[in-house]
Amino acid sequence: MTSSEVKQKIEKLRQLINKYRYQYHVLNKLEISEETLDQLKYELKKLEDEYPQFIAANSPTQRVAGKALSKFKKVTHSARMLSLEDAFSEDDMREWEDRLKKVLPSKKWHYFAELKLDGLALSLVYRDGVLVRGATRGDGAIGEDVTQNVRTMESIPLSLETYRDSSRSMISRMLQNKEVEIRGEALISKKGLINLNHTQTEKGEKPYANARNLAAGSLRQLDPKIVRDRHLEFIGYSLLASDGVTQHHEEHEVIATLGFKTDPYAKICKNLAEVFEFHAHVASIRESFPYEIDGIVVSVNESDLHARAGVVGKTPRASIAYKFAPKEAITKVNDIIIQVGRTGVLTPVAVLEPVRVGGVTVSRATLHNEDEIRRLSLKVGDTVIVGRAGDVIPDIKKVLIELRNGHERSFHMPKKCPVCDKSVSSDARGIIVRCTNKACPSLKRERIYYFVSKKAFDIDGLGPKTIDALLDQGLIQDASDLFGLLEGDLVPLERFGEKSASNLVGAIAGSRKISLPRFLIALGILHVGEETALDLAEHFGTLDRVAGASEEEILKVKNIGSIVARSIVDFFKDAHSKVFLEKLSDEGVIVGKTPKRKPGKLTGTSFVFTGELESMSRDAAKARVRELGGDPSETVSRETKYVVVGVSPGSKYAKAQKLGITVLDERAFLKLVE
Ligand code: IVH
Repeated sequence: MTSSEVKQKIEKLRQLINKYRYQYHVLNKLEISEETLDQLKYELKKLEDEYPQFIAANSPTQRVAGKALSKFKKVTHSARMLSLEDAFSEDDMREWEDRLKKVLPSKKWHYFAELKLDGLALSLVYRDGVLVRGATRGDGAIGEDVTQNVRTMESIPLSLETYRDSSRSMISRMLQNKEVEIRGEALISKKGLINLNHTQTEKGEKPYANARNLAAGSLRQLDPKIVRDRHLEFIGYSLLASDGVTQHHEEHEVIATLGFKTDPYAKICKNLAEVFEFHAHVASIRESFPYEIDGIVVSVNESDLHARAGVVGKTPRASIAYKFAPKEAITKVNDIIIQVGRTGVLTPVAVLEPVRVGGVTVSRATLHNEDEIRRLSLKVGDTVIVGRAGDVIPDIKKVLIELRNGHERSFHMPKKCPVCDKSVSSDARGIIVRCTNKACPSLKRERIYYFVSKKAFDIDGLGPKTIDALLDQGLIQDASDLFGLLEGDLVPLERFGEKSASNLVGAIAGSRKISLPRFLIALGILHVGEETALDLAEHFGTLDRVAGASEEEILKVKNIGSIVARSIVDFFKDAHSKVFLEKLSDEGVIVGKTPKRKPGKLTGTSFVFTGELESMSRDAAKARVRELGGDPSETVSRETKYVVVGVSPGSKYAKAQKLGITVLDERAFLKLVE
């Protein structure tokens, strides 16, 4: 090869590698394998070693982590890196708008709303299109030069190019600018944190507490090798030297075109009402977003108005951070009470001094069982941190033992059921405590609630309050009595008129015909949830065959083990159950037959769903899986083939990642079941 051929080849390789780097680290997709990409890099490295005169500052080989520094150089920012004022409520936001109206009289504007990414601010300077400096915010005026570290971050282009189609002339102008500065957030993804913590625990070291602190700590590492291994990422949100740009949203467009990741959700809002809608939407996708977000940033979109509104202290007037309600709060445990559930399990519940967490006031936190109380070393009277992840019931994260005053008292599980005063039994490990009285009023009540619930008889307009009233008036003893109720029985009850009474009687009558799986769920057999009910129904086909099955026969049903089989046999053998089933049949309840499931393309494939799907309900998704012969399940195990993750997923998502199970997002799932 002649020297000019070598130069050309080097240039082509550089471009190719850069194209794939962009695909992989910015767009999250890759058309070739990682190994092939490594091979290309290796080839480039070999050529450059031989012809060092052709190494350019923006060559992918220049991402290698160099020597450790002894300390960072200080740098002066071209324009101060400001911070944002916080708002926590819609009222705070309205006050902000009122203040803006005063400084921008008789002006009209739009807002631009974007995610508030929870990492740390980073400034990137490109001179003649080449990355020359990366700097932290520091005190806003003077930051630290972390260029060495920034060069290892693959989501940051080493040179500015047009990575996407854009008809905008300002892009080409931008590329001709002497100096372009892009600011954004440096982050470690949630998955990245999980992976790094995995390595930490394997090494016997303490896991990192959160992605934000880890990202901040990493960027300020003197040794760039450490930074490289922590996979920091960058998402851009503002552009300096933005001649030709008249609106903030255009900065996002330009940044994306120049090859950076940007916020995919950011949008223009016409007014605060739309901003509030955006805030609520972001709160709902928060858990499923790959990075931590702690609110939204709202700015006046028109750049001239933004500038005119000016800066107060360290914050611009025309931008604000509208934060999410904190997910944790400090409060006091005033008491620990016991709840008796449908299956008779006694659950200790902490009665809290009411406190706002995650946007709602909470006064109860589940303690699960005595073991959990011991693990927390919780006493009545303790000051605690309560948390609420997603929509789940709040729980106690930590007891602040240092704040005890000596008046706290220990708690022990009762030896008798607090509702019926009969004795309780506990399982072998002493963790699950149950009321043994089949006629315990609390159990009875909970069973009826369950019987009419959505997944069982699904009787509209029959909530806990009405059931309580019916029980208290002696109008029903168990769920079968519901079918004998007349309008005249209901009318005298509080909150009932003739119309609502007739509606309810109609709804009850309309539920008389029921499918076998729903009926099995309604019976509330210990350990028989939705999936087991379906498996039983598909295996046996009719209620009589389920009820008459022996333990051995039930063990042949897929996914059913001996504890569940025993529980089913015990239920149908029990004299109370027999009477109950007979009463239901006398009241005209008709249980349908279930056909055998046909095999399909998903036969033998098990799915677990977590989080909400956007295009269909979770039940519809499960039904679709079943139609294709697949197996929806509630628990993630090594047998699980796919975990489908929607909006606000729960702990199942983390478990799937831990077990290395294939995770599908909604789109991938839809493709699979098309
Ligand atoms: S705009 C005036 N947009 O929040 C500051 N900041 O206190 C301009 N942040 O230090 C920042 N996501 O690191 C902006 N989409 C976003 C952001 C964002 C996170 C951080 C930023 C800044 C802090 C504000």
